[in-house]
Amino acid sequence: MAGVTFTKQGHIGIATVDNPPVNALGHAVRAGLTAAVAQADADPEIKALILICAGRTFIAGADIREFGRPLEPPLLNTLVADLEASTKPFVAAIHGTALGGGLEVALACHFRVAVPSARLGLPEVKLGILPGAGGTQRLPRLIGVDAALTMITEGNDIPASKAQAIGLIDAIIEGDLLAGAIAFTEKLLADGTPIRRTGSLTAKVENPAIFEETKAALAKKQRGFLAPQKCVDAVKLAVDYPLEEGSKREYALCIDLMQGAQSKAQRHAFFAEREVAKVPGLPEDTKLRDVKSVGVAGPGAMGTGIAMCFINAGLPVVLVGLDQPTLDKSLGTMRKIYGGNVAKGTMTQEALDARLALIKPTTDYAELKDVDLVIEAVFEDMAVKKQVFAKLGKVTKPGSILATNTSYLDIDALAEASGRPTDVVGMHFFNPANVMRLLENVRGAKTASDVLATVMKIGKTIKKVSVLSGVCDGFIGNRMLAKRSREGMFMLEEGATPWQIDKVLYDFGFAMGPYQVADLAGIDVQYAARKARWDKLSEREHKANLVDQLFELGRYGQKTGAGYYTYDDKRKATPDPAIEALIAQHSAARGITRRPIGDTEIRERLIYAMINEGAKILEEGIAARPHDIDIVWLTGFGFPVYLGGPMFYADQIGLKTIYDALLKYKDQVGAEFFTPAPLLERLALAGKGFYDK
Ligand code: 3HC
Repeated sequence: MAGVTFTKQGHIGIATVDNPPVNALGHAVRAGLTAAVAQADADPEIKALILICAGRTFIAGADIREFGRPLEPPLLNTLVADLEASTKPFVAAIHGTALGGGLEVALACHFRVAVPSARLGLPEVKLGILPGAGGTQRLPRLIGVDAALTMITEGNDIPASKAQAIGLIDAIIEGDLLAGAIAFTEKLLADGTPIRRTGSLTAKVENPAIFEETKAALAKKQRGFLAPQKCVDAVKLAVDYPLEEGSKREYALCIDLMQGAQSKAQRHAFFAEREVAKVPGLPEDTKLRDVKSVGVAGPGAMGTGIAMCFINAGLPVVLVGLDQPTLDKSLGTMRKIYGGNVAKGTMTQEALDARLALIKPTTDYAELKDVDLVIEAVFEDMAVKKQVFAKLGKVTKPGSILATNTSYLDIDALAEASGRPTDVVGMHFFNPANVMRLLENVRGAKTASDVLATVMKIGKTIKKVSVLSGVCDGFIGNRMLAKRSREGMFMLEEGATPWQIDKVLYDFGFAMGPYQVADLAGIDVQYAARKARWDKLSEREHKANLVDQLFELGRYGQKTGAGYYTYDDKRKATPDPAIEALIAQHSAARGITRRPIGDTEIRERLIYAMINEGAKILEEGIAARPHDIDIVWLTGFGFPVYLGGPMFYADQIGLKTIYDALLKYKDQVGAEFFTPAPLLERLALAGKGFYDK
């Protein structure tokens, strides 16, 4: 029985699943468990059964790689029904993570025990599906409809302590899990505790309106996603139908989602996120540099967020600032953010104090002499940054990694300024750095392999998704964003309004449109970035100077009560006719006759301009794979996960369709802006996609 071994200890049968890395429920495991149940039922010596897993975790779910293919029997649904029907008490012994199908198997067992560090959850919704092997039917029967709805629609796992508190597990085992599970099982037998089948419990609902209320809340919280809505429908089945019928209908809902475009995209995102951790040409066994302490130079908004990422992971941080007031402000910000967590009850005051105790604020760069990694996050200006790198090259110990958080400056120039170019790398965080998941690491011309491998790994330590980019203006993310921003500005000149463009991107699935974002981030910030990149902008972009005009009017966005929109004292945005007049005047001054621009044109010009740039980024090797681009946009720029990222989305639309649209806009807007990238052209004409490359 590959994947499952069956042994006996006295009168207890022990089925051990061993299917590295995460004991997913592939065919061998399903078949092995089915056989184990049959063997136990047939063996009169066996009085009870334990299901336990080898390796780092309990079963972490169905094998996602099998999705979309016809499955070989036994199917998971049949297996869980067999487990639950077993005539001998069946105990699941859980360590690591019991997720998805893994938890569904555990729910079908008659009792569940877990080590204190175990975590349990039904994350299917994050893959665009719902638990399809009885999870939505058994969980509400066991822990109640309210708690089950939360777990199933949010997909987050919970610790063993909470699982015990809500009745999901029966005991926590301190010490050796198997020994503890055997002792638990022996006691069940000694006490004559009857088998308790989850499926024969009743799912009770106190507030029948909860289903509609949850759906309405999810329509806002997880806008655009299909699976959360269907999860609610599935949980309701547990109240409306007996187990067998409910499970049948749940399965049908699950298969429907699995075959849909959203789940395909979300599964792509799951695997792409893991793929980007593997850097082509960088051996997985590259010896890493030790990083036990960190320095952050520049305690502004970015530096503050970056320092928080490291103290959250328990690493001490030397925070260097120009003067005491800026350091005090940074620490004040941290205290305020953590204080909010304490107020919400998600953090204790002791934990807050312990985190802040990890920060050593100083105005003296010499204090960085012992740290293993320094991240520079000073003002985005080449001359200033060069000075900092020259200093860092001298004050830090040999072998310490020198990273810059620059968004678009040339890392190789900073590397040279340090005098230690092999130690220099980009670590580009996104604002707010303590929240955003993306970490765009940037490989300089001379960056050492072990430095790259180390910063990719650090991303995981601080719970970020590390993606590797080569050096170019804006790296992967901002380089593509610049093309989208350009097209937005051009369309404003040609006839669109900021609110129309914002709405198109909102409807596409972004949380906010570009002009809402600009008002939030600050027009002054955009203005400074525009000036810094002036030499890289085209002539038409120089002339499309609405940002400059807003800046000169003092319309800095939300902070001044007016930007593209006007804001009331609750920061509610209203489209401003004065801006429409300003744009119309600008178009007239530029000699452009305004015309109505349809939503399709807006969407295509914004998104296809990005995709075309993505193709160039791929061809130049700035991104090694389309996965890297997709993950940058999914984790750093709010591209809707259910569309899978710009390159995956492009493949779904069809590159030939995009190619034809680019040719149309090339004629309309200009060859400078819309000539198809050679890679995109080649693939489109060969009938291929980016992922067929
Ligand atoms: N199926 C197939 N492969 C899986 C998998 C799964 N369910 N879960 C993880 N893997 C693979 C990963 O792709 C990765 O492969 P790689 O080494 O080739 O890149 C490897 O296992 C290790 O995974 P991670 O790098 O993610 O390891 P971590 O230790 O960081 O995390 C984990 C472990 C928490 C289990 C995480 O992998 C995870 O969250 N997995 C997905 C869990 C999940 O979604 N389960 C539900 C599946 S759907 C389901 O069960 C449907 C059912 O209701 C019918």
